[in-house]
Amino acid sequence: METVVSGIRPTGNLHLGNYYGAVKSFLQMQNDYNCLFFIADWHSMTTRPKPEDIVRSSNTILAEYLACGIDPHKATIYVQSDVPEVLELYLYFNMNAYLGELERTTTFKEKARKQPDNVNAGLLTYPTLMAADILIHRAAKVPVGKDQEQNMEMARRYARRFNTMYGVEFFKEPESFSLSAKAVKIPGLDGSGKMGKSDGNCIYLIDDPATIRKKVMKAVTDAGPTEPDSEKPEVIQNLFTLMEVVSPRDTYEYFDAKWRDCSIRYGDMKKQLAEDIVAATEPIREKINAYLADTDNLARIARMGAEKARESASKTLDEVRHIIGFKPRF
Ligand code: TRP
Repeated sequence: METVVSGIRPTGNLHLGNYYGAVKSFLQMQNDYNCLFFIADWHSMTTRPKPEDIVRSSNTILAEYLACGIDPHKATIYVQSDVPEVLELYLYFNMNAYLGELERTTTFKEKARKQPDNVNAGLLTYPTLMAADILIHRAAKVPVGKDQEQNMEMARRYARRFNTMYGVEFFKEPESFSLSAKAVKIPGLDGSGKMGKSDGNCIYLIDDPATIRKKVMKAVTDAGPTEPDSEKPEVIQNLFTLMEVVSPRDTYEYFDAKWRDCSIRYGDMKKQLAEDIVAATEPIREKINAYLADTDNLARIARMGAEKARESASKTLDEVRHIIGFKPRF
């Protein structure tokens, strides 16, 4: 069975965009592949999280993944920092990574621009750590969005370079499993395109019904259609796209007809949309809270994941050490 690896930085709660995008695809993948889903807490250090937030942020994602239905008995779910083998491979890749190529990556340039007073070496070597995450399990496929394409190219490059350097065919180049192509794109509520991590624009799985209603009622709309059957402007289309995802088909069609004959009242539509989002997320929210309340259980699940991940990682690392020339001395 092919191996799939995917990492997520624990920098916030999962929102509807994550759920209908990546997470729903993971639910399918965990049946079809040897999946390893991990929480990239080392990667999150490029922005210097507070010590008291480190464990809590990972637990949050862990609870959210589990609540969404990622099954720790089917997939391996682990926290990156529980698998130290990754760091050794990271070091080897760093020895073969050049300053010029790392400086040229768009993610580095962008982050360096965003945090000019903290352009640290971890930021620079973000792609080698990501390559180590993937190649430590010799993954064949990595589900990623478009924004990660360059990092994926770097991972392939470090796999290739290792093989060339040592004259081996050890690492296979990992393929990107494009999420952008298949997954539903969830728009934000402020009319600015995609649902992302800004509060006015985002509905989190953990949001309670009152918060969801408030956010949806505040979503940007326009003055309403003036001509029958006119094309929907982006802000309106966004609401319809959300409705298409969370509401029953006939609800969507009802409001679509109202749009087309110009009798739509956005207030009514938003009320319905809010209720349908509440219905879709409420069971997940309850499960998230239940998982979060039982930290012993979360720790047990994390340990199980770490054990499986370390087993897979140390197999790779033993071979890598041998290839590089670090043969056991005792
Ligand atoms: N860079 C990814 C992101 O920001 C997170 C990540 C880290 C990752 N390591 C990975 C994703 C390995 C896939 C595979 O979204």
